[in-house]
Amino acid sequence: MSMDELKRQAAARALQEVRDGMRLGLGTGSTAKYFVELLGDKVRAGLNVVGVPTSEATRADALRCGVPLTTLDEIDRLDLTVDGADEVDGALDLIKGGGGALLREKIVAAASDRMIVIADESKWVATLGRFPLPVEVIPFGLAATRRAIAQACAESGVSGEMVLRKAKDGHVFVTDGGHWIVDAHLTRIQDARRLAGLLSTIPGVVEHGLFVGLATQAILAGAQGIRVIDRP
Ligand code: A5P
Repeated sequence: MSMDELKRQAAARALQEVRDGMRLGLGTGSTAKYFVELLGDKVRAGLNVVGVPTSEATRADALRCGVPLTTLDEIDRLDLTVDGADEVDGALDLIKGGGGALLREKIVAAASDRMIVIADESKWVATLGRFPLPVEVIPFGLAATRRAIAQACAESGVSGEMVLRKAKDGHVFVTDGGHWIVDAHLTRIQDARRLAGLLSTIPGVVEHGLFVGLATQAILAGAQGIRVIDRP
């Protein structure tokens, strides 16, 4: 079975959790895109939901699929967010931001009563960190911020290269919020909660891709079938 089919299966399983009248956070990435498309089918068949997109790309997808949208200025809480991840561990802590949407993704997840992570099984890891950790930064003072990120990593017992993300065209990658991303190549994050706390105190850091204690359930699709894992 192809990776795309696994992503689609995870998205389809998450759709079973959606009820009429729900306010939904709509994630970003190739897996979340399947969810938005399948949700659009349901909406066209009469399901009544409203979504808050976590990126401009997802906003465009949702509009194309006919999913009604709102904002966190118009409603105060969401019932459920469904989003992908770059890595998921046994505590359902995550690395996100491979697609660059981590800031809006975290705001939306934090405003949700539940967050379901959908992924193919390759995203399941024993320890977070093989996927480079995205850290969204303000362009001003980049070198100082990058040093501070490296220092925070060292204080939490990890180290590695801090790489300014580039877009495919070779220019600096710019997020929907107009910020840049430093990808921290750490290999193995021993203490995600501690590192998350340290990164959050750095003035030039807008947000980081460690999602600690936000996901309530993971739906992982693999060759053997679908696993549904609740936060321990
Ligand atoms: C977007 O910024 C990310 O957090 C994505 O959710 C993550 O990269 C997963 O994307 P895929 O579903 O495309 O692997």
